[in-house]
Amino acid sequence: MLRFALTLLLFTLAFGVLSSSPVFSDLILAKVDRRIDLTSQIVRITTSLKVENAGSNPISEILLSFPENQAKHLAYLTATLNEGKGKGKASSGAGLPTEVVIPKDVPDSLTFYSVSLHKGLGKGESLLLDVLAVFTHALEPFPEKISQADIQLLLFQDTAHFLSPYKVMVQSVAVKLPEARVESYTKLEGTKLSGSELKYGPFHNIPPFSYLPIIIHFENNQPFAVAEELVREIEISHWGNVQVTEHYNLFHGGAKSKGEFSRLDYQARPYVRGASAFRRLVARLPPRAHSVYYRDEIGNISTSSLWGDSKKTELEIEPRYPLFGGWRTAFTIGYGLPLRDFLFESDGKRFLNFSFGSPINELVIDTLIVKVVLPEGSKDISASVPFPVKQWQETKFSHLDLVGRPVVVLEKNNVVPEHNEHFQVYYKFNSLSMLTEPLMLIFGFFFLFVACIVYMHADLSISKSSASYLAKVQWEEVQATVQQIHNIISHCLTAHDKLEASLRDLSRTGDVQACKATRKSVDSLLKGVSKDLKPLVTFLQSSPQAAHILPKVEELIAKERDLQERLMAKHTTVVDCYEKKLGGREIENRIASNQQKITSLRQEVDDLMEFIDEI
Ligand SMILES: *[C@@H]1O[C@H](CO)[C@@H](O)[C@H](O)[C@H]1NC(C)=O
Ligand SMILES: *[C@@H]1O[C@H](CO)[C@@H](O)[C@H](O)[C@H]1NC(C)=O
Repeated sequence: MLRFALTLLLFTLAFGVLSSSPVFSDLILAKVDRRIDLTSQIVRITTSLKVENAGSNPISEILLSFPENQAKHLAYLTATLNEGKGKGKASSGAGLPTEVVIPKDVPDSLTFYSVSLHKGLGKGESLLLDVLAVFTHALEPFPEKISQADIQLLLFQDTAHFLSPYKVMVQSVAVKLPEARVESYTKLEGTKLSGSELKYGPFHNIPPFSYLPIIIHFENNQPFAVAEELVREIEISHWGNVQVTEHYNLFHGGAKSKGEFSRLDYQARPYVRGASAFRRLVARLPPRAHSVYYRDEIGNISTSSLWGDSKKTELEIEPRYPLFGGWRTAFTIGYGLPLRDFLFESDGKRFLNFSFGSPINELVIDTLIVKVVLPEGSKDISASVPFPVKQWQETKFSHLDLVGRPVVVLEKNNVVPEHNEHFQVYYKFNSLSMLTEPLMLIFGFFFLFVACIVYMHADLSISKSSASYLAKVQWEEVQATVQQIHNIISHCLTAHDKLEASLRDLSRTGDVQACKATRKSVDSLLKGVSKDLKPLVTFLQSSPQAAHILPKVEELIAKERDLQERLMAKHTTVVDCYEKKLGGREIENRIASNQQKITSLRQEVDDLMEFIDEI
């Protein structure tokens, strides 16, 4: 506090010397009303001045002065002529041109802005001027560090007397504070605090460069959201879309958080939630915004909500954790907008008309970089911004680009919501260029088709072989079927062997019953087998691939059947003979003719089996 008081004292001394300087004495300020708004992290001072020309020469510029500690925080300054009748009327017309000037014989510690009047102010004439000055980082947290449970207290310092190179006849100040506690404030004669409004003055006949320090210490728990850097990329696509992507690097610019953060305390005890911590931010997007997303380094965040009407779209975003003093977070929001709302034509040029600043409410941006990505092939590019910015051009490449897209880059420090004015980027564009990419695609596909055709022709064997492949598959099926038939027949032959064996056993043991039992089991086995054969043969008959093999298979099956019948007959005869107890010779005579046939048939069947096994 002592430090401030000393600085202020020095100011007063310095200006005291200057007060007799004649340079500025032609103008007098008949009335000055100042309103200081301290309800957010951004300080806004609105001053209405009644300026009178008391000299004899017309005057075309008015000087505004700011002490060093304010000048370095000044983000935005605009002066407008108030042509309305009396107070409460809005200022009309655009802001008057203002620029920094360095008049002679003034201390370095003051910064002067010159407001140029369109029309000189003649002798004895007066005008009303409204000045809005917006400051960032002008509220000093005091104490600088607070714990999770503390409220945030801030210091604001200014002068009760309007600091001006001109004499002021009558003036007053009203300070609007947040609806919260006022810790202390400088008390001067006539100072009044009513509710959240603090009034100083009126003061009369103040000499030039008069400085009467005031300090206000008050509670303010508004979110001190400061974007250290914000990169806004606005990409124009002539196919109907403007894509906006905003990369935020945000921190809480209020009183630093000290001690350890306890999430338990934070969640369980509302009173230690950190009154100044902020949990959510609201971005006001243009109407008809679509495909809105919000993500951080980890991924998309779903705890954002979106609502809107025909005038605006509001996106409420909630970082993953509440932000306490000094904490940071980085995230990206993106959205698409209809091109026709922002792209226009005049004098054969197209131009984008877009708002400059961030859509987030009451955000302070230390460094704002706006990149406008124009369609490939844009020419004669120029930008028009209503305030000074650094400007340059880059090139961006994305898929299908041949020479890259021109990018207009605008950079500005210390940006406040007042900078959300419209800027324009003008460029010339040949509509035919728009066809470049589709043509590239068309040619791309064309060449792809040509390549396919060439490929198909060059490699016709593929299509042939695919037919032959089919044939191969069919042939394999035929082979498999034939193999199955082969297996079945060999089962049958094994059964035949069993029958023969049972007859040999019979001749040795004379056990008729055992022989009959074997016969029975072989009978049923052969019956089942003939059922299995049927579908296999049907398949071969329907398959053209099997044409050459089918006769042999059918012959094999017929021969085996014949062989089977003869074997059965032989078996029946032999068993009969045994039951009738006939002699061995007698039996041999009875089966002799059949036995010959059986032997030759067996030979034929074996040959056929060998043949079909080899296909
Ligand atoms: C996030 O969501 C947007 C829109 O839904 C989508 O375009 C983007 O690819 C998503 N990003 C991630 C990392 O999931
Ligand atoms: C840009 O848009 C704003 C808001 O719609 C409008 O007021 C302004 O006149 C436009 N500027 C130009 C140059 O068209």
